[in-house]
Amino acid sequence: RTLTGLRTKLLNWFDKHQRDLPWRRAADGTAGGPRDPYRVWVSEVMLQQTTVTAVVPYFERFVAALPDVRALAAADEQRVLKLWEGLGYYRRARHLHAAAKALAEAHVDQLPDDPAVWDALPGVGRYILGAVLSQAFDRKLPIVEANSLRVLARLFGHRGDPRVGAGKAWVWTAAETVLPNARCGDFNQALMELGALVCTPTAPDCGACPLQGHCEAKRLGLQEQIPPKKKP
Ligand code: ADE
Ligand code: SF4
Repeated sequence: RTLTGLRTKLLNWFDKHQRDLPWRRAADGTAGGPRDPYRVWVSEVMLQQTTVTAVVPYFERFVAALPDVRALAAADEQRVLKLWEGLGYYRRARHLHAAAKALAEAHVDQLPDDPAVWDALPGVGRYILGAVLSQAFDRKLPIVEANSLRVLARLFGHRGDPRVGAGKAWVWTAAETVLPNARCGDFNQALMELGALVCTPTAPDCGACPLQGHCEAKRLGLQEQIPPKKKP
């Protein structure tokens, strides 16, 4: 019941059960290699408020039309917004475009692995920073989104609301604590994938969960009470 055991079990599960998603492949379609930071970035911005299934066709179209950060920076805003049409949250697209332009103005062709550079870009918060740097550069940075938040709260039996205040701080610390030293990007993805496929908001499939022996919520029979339902 150690953290090392938890990490190994989750990564092994991910290797076997992860969905084949286009941003997990390189631009030439190959899987299993290092991820393209541009594709990771675009996908994560799209995934911030939109589901995986809805994002896939938009993502394919967007990276086919604008295959790298230079192409994005050179595109006019109407074209970018047109490619985004239907996804909603157009502010995300404007920020993405503005960030690409800022990088182009600074003569950056290769997306950087320096957190300070990302931090200064429009639209880049802790989530995007951690998602891009962990997946594309294997930097040891945590991420928290709706799926991983639920998994972490259940694993550790956290009773408060991990979406707000002290709970929010708690869940980011938890996400940092569980990270392994290697394969950080895969580990972050695995937490989200487990939340999407097994540790679902209602009726989680604990019998199929690789972490069932590590889970405090399961031990207490509180899977459905943790995290508390969102206030309407
Ligand atoms: N949700 C947010 N980012 C994701 C990703 N990279 N894969 C699957 N679901 C996600
Ligand atoms: Fe989620 Fe159940 Fe797995 Fe715990 S045992 S992490 S509640 S699926």
